[in-house]
Amino acid sequence: MICITNDGSSTIFLPDFNEYYHSKYGAVSESAHVFIKNGFYFWKKENPNKKYCNIFEVGFGTGLNAFLTYNESKLILDTKLMYTSVEPYPLKLSEIHQLNYSKKLDDNDKIFNFIHDSKWNSPVQLSKNFTLTKNITTLQNFNIEMNQDIIYFDPFCYRVQPEMWSKKIINQIVNSMSKYSVFVTFSSMNILFDLLKDLKLNVEKIPGPNKKKKMIRAIKN
Ligand SMILES: C[S@@+](CC[C@H](N)C(=O)[O-])C[C@H]1O[C@@H](n2cnc3c(N)ncnc32)[C@H](O)[C@@H]1O
Repeated sequence: MICITNDGSSTIFLPDFNEYYHSKYGAVSESAHVFIKNGFYFWKKENPNKKYCNIFEVGFGTGLNAFLTYNESKLILDTKLMYTSVEPYPLKLSEIHQLNYSKKLDDNDKIFNFIHDSKWNSPVQLSKNFTLTKNITTLQNFNIEMNQDIIYFDPFCYRVQPEMWSKKIINQIVNSMSKYSVFVTFSSMNILFDLLKDLKLNVEKIPGPNKKKKMIRAIKN
């Protein structure tokens, strides 16, 4: 079910799980804060000389994080982005067409639709410096390539999907991260904080998006 969040951007609500794909206080503002500002731009600031950036996302969903990252890649021409995502339950085209991200974000090149129309399970070059690979699979069944620079950890929350926040999964992800890479998520849960700390990452709780007080960011040393 499509609904409109407080910043005017749309998201999806799953009544059976009482769960939204994004914050009901603002889908675009949440993604922009958690993943773009505190993930992508934080990594860029810490690694100004890196010319390649591997981004791995858990939960492709509406494609909003991929779309926002693509938009930023138009401004950061000195870095080639390889964006890989996993999604076991792709949305129907009829749902995607009801999302208003293209309209809200002046998508003159019609890239949002292109992102969704592009094929699964193989790399698609969206521009000179942005390559997208969407994989139809669960994270559990996916072999994450090594040397990830940024992790966008965006599964459903612990209440809905506790298995995604387990030691096994977090270990799998952290193993794929390169030195000085950055892990970001909307969650501020202590279970996750402690797991990341036990794996020797530098973990912090930083201000969250919209009305959310905190989110987690962790850096691999
Ligand atoms: C919070 S929503 C996605 C948000 C998405 N990044 C976006 O901007 O729309 C979580 C996503 O994780 C997907 N998901 C569920 N189980 C998964 C699994 N085992 N592995 C990877 N993704 C999963 C869901 O289908 C859903 O699309």
